[in-house]
Amino acid sequence: MAGDIIIAPSILSADFAKLGEEVRAIDKAGCDWVHIDVMDGHFVPNITIGPDVVKALRPHSDKVFDVHLMIAPCDPYIEAFANAGSDIITVHAEAGPHLDRSLQHIRSFGKKAGVSLTPSTPETAIEYVLDKVDLILVMTVNPGFGGQAFIPEQLPKIRTIREMIGARPIHLEVDGGINAETAPLVAEAGADVIVAGSAVFKGGAYAQNIAAIRDAAMRARAAA
Ligand code: DX5
Ligand code: ZN
Repeated sequence: MAGDIIIAPSILSADFAKLGEEVRAIDKAGCDWVHIDVMDGHFVPNITIGPDVVKALRPHSDKVFDVHLMIAPCDPYIEAFANAGSDIITVHAEAGPHLDRSLQHIRSFGKKAGVSLTPSTPETAIEYVLDKVDLILVMTVNPGFGGQAFIPEQLPKIRTIREMIGARPIHLEVDGGINAETAPLVAEAGADVIVAGSAVFKGGAYAQNIAAIRDAAMRARAAA
């Protein structure tokens, strides 16, 4: 399978005391997108950042802000995240009963709409919204924390969703436990956007870490 791999470092693993500086650093280090994890202590057992932080970070990079909402309900906050400067807003299929409405709501603000599936949710949950999404995010860990181990049972799901997407212009993103060792597995299965938190921010060599993940994924993709 040909095509470029998009690397989206998750700032969940950045130093929260200097987030603007960290976003500038991953931008300079060659990331494609900036992945922003929003958690509410309800849908997931952790609390992170809100729309005001996204707004404060916006002037620090022109790259795509890929905002992953791990919150329920999500609909009441979509406008605030849109106005804060998000480019892509992703909601969880499990976050509420009206996924179709949430996706239309995101697009009504001129933003790209994403849907995410936790590891236990089957791909059939998104079968009837495929024409309303710009991105599908397969979680390869249970959402809530960085630094968890990759769940290999998600690989067949990634493969199946790649087939479901067909010729549609939809990104297939993976998030959780991705590093230079697991990136080839997800790339071979059909993912084109790779989120990585700890693997990018470890040791401070951001450019080197991004390049290692990208090279590993690109090699697997070229061979697939
Ligand atoms: C987990 C978040 C991820 C997380 C990934 O709920 O959605 O974006 O930061 O972290 P790593 O790459 O360390 O697994
Ligand atoms: Zn995420």
